Amino acid sequence: MGLALASLLGASQVASALTVGFSQVGSESGWRTTFSESVKAEADKRGIDLKFSDAQQKQENQIKAIRSFIAQGVDAIVVAPVVETGWRPVLMEARRARIPVVIVDRNVAVNNDQLYVTRIAPNFVDEGRKAANWLMDATDGQCDIVELQGTVGSSAAIGRMEGFNEVIGKYEGAKIVRSQTAEFTRAKGKEVMESILKAEGGGKELCALWTHNDEMALGAIQAIREAGLKPGEDILVVSVDAVDDIFSALKAGDVNASVEMSPHLGGPAFDVIEAYLDGKRDFEKWMVMDGRIFTQENYQDEYELRKSQ
Ligand code: AHR
Repeated sequence: MGLALASLLGASQVASALTVGFSQVGSESGWRTTFSESVKAEADKRGIDLKFSDAQQKQENQIKAIRSFIAQGVDAIVVAPVVETGWRPVLMEARRARIPVVIVDRNVAVNNDQLYVTRIAPNFVDEGRKAANWLMDATDGQCDIVELQGTVGSSAAIGRMEGFNEVIGKYEGAKIVRSQTAEFTRAKGKEVMESILKAEGGGKELCALWTHNDEMALGAIQAIREAGLKPGEDILVVSVDAVDDIFSALKAGDVNASVEMSPHLGGPAFDVIEAYLDGKRDFEKWMVMDGRIFTQENYQDEYELRKSQ
């Protein structure tokens, strides 16, 4: 439906007839799967015709999908970008076609913020800071840390690394002894952790594992256990996302802390699109989502709540 027609209709009619293209990163983690499911459910609830495209972690697939959405004349496009750079040309194409774009989750590095309506996402730097503050408190700032990074070039990995390093940089006794990407996946988390434990003589001297998401933590704790160590005790584990599976790991004592990132981005993205098509233009360029940190001390209420849903 075109903008002119949209303006002749009321907001509810706009919502019920919308076609939205959604370019998703992939399905690398439990967090992302929940995110995709929640966007689809929200679209169904609102009667939005959602054109969903899974890019399988490849930017070129995302660019192709966006071009196809433009060719189909969708009313709006939502993009969760895999990496930060390389978006300007395709965003310009959407702009020329007068199709509003909403960025969700990771960021795009473009010098013209008019290329998208808004970005709905947490502060990744702050997530890294929260994880590091928890770890520095738990270890009195004395800690040899292994880091598993997310996808190289993604703003989630870049920001979380920056925030974490900023905090531990204030503690003389804390340092990252190994840092490697495990691409945000459970399988890689296990594989990379296995090789790090070997390289570290079994891992007995390590104090903590810091992972840029829960999925890698869940893979790595298997590797720690298989190496004869107790995750959560011999090696502390702190990560980001607070997915359902991490609550079981918190309960089992295998994980010590996880910073929450809500996967429910569809509702806010569709709210923005509906308001935009209804004529609103004064959006904040970054709608920041806040998240809590769950630890072995405070996870119980949330765990019970999720079990009951
Ligand atoms: O960009 C957000 C990150 O991507 C989530 O933390 C992770 O689980 C996902 O794959």
